[in-house]
Amino acid sequence: MTEHRTLFTFVREFIKNPRHTGAICPSSGFLARQMAALVPPGEGKVIELGPGSGPMTRALLNRGIAPNDLILVERTQSFADHLKQRFPQIKVIHGDACGLSTLLGQIDEPIRAIVSSLPLRSMPRALVQQISNEINHISHPGTRFIQFTYYLHDKKPPFPEPYSGPFSGSEGHIVWCNFPPARVDAFDWIA
Ligand SMILES: C[S@@+](CC[C@H](N)C(=O)[O-])C[C@H]1O[C@@H](n2cnc3c(N)ncnc32)[C@H](O)[C@@H]1O
Repeated sequence: MTEHRTLFTFVREFIKNPRHTGAICPSSGFLARQMAALVPPGEGKVIELGPGSGPMTRALLNRGIAPNDLILVERTQSFADHLKQRFPQIKVIHGDACGLSTLLGQIDEPIRAIVSSLPLRSMPRALVQQISNEINHISHPGTRFIQFTYYLHDKKPPFPEPYSGPFSGSEGHIVWCNFPPARVDAFDWIA
């Protein structure tokens, strides 16, 4: 599949539904590599939320995450179809992260990381709270939550305040080679 097709899928989706897409451009390779680099080494599943056209997925594979360990959850049908074609070896779930635990079903392995491109800071509070609950539900000590944002100075977990969930600490930095520049953060489950 060509890069042009990937870009076309993104632009078409953005024109159809800019609010849901949550970004004006696909994420750059720089941003994707920075996200992937924050996945801790070790065993277990890596869940990607809102993979869109798939730049983070590509970077996760390049980082050495086995296709079998990756599960993608994408709400937009055309992106989900595109991902299935682009990455036939990876499990792609077409669904809403609000129902994450049900969508994933029983997972017998630890969850090493959750890599999110969801536009959490611009989504309705109630939805974000539900997604936060779902993320907590599937996570455990050792799970890392990785998120990017265009709010460059906001280092807090992107969940409704006051946040009393298990994720804290931030290994974050700004990626200037992205349009617009973005901040990448990794939060760890501190028991
Ligand atoms: C910022 S875009 C990701 C862009 C991606 N990095 C790229 O370059 O193609 C956010 C993605 O999250 C998806 N999304 C938004 N809300 C979602 C939800 N509640 N559950 C699952 N996916 C969602 C959108 O369909 C979109 O693909």
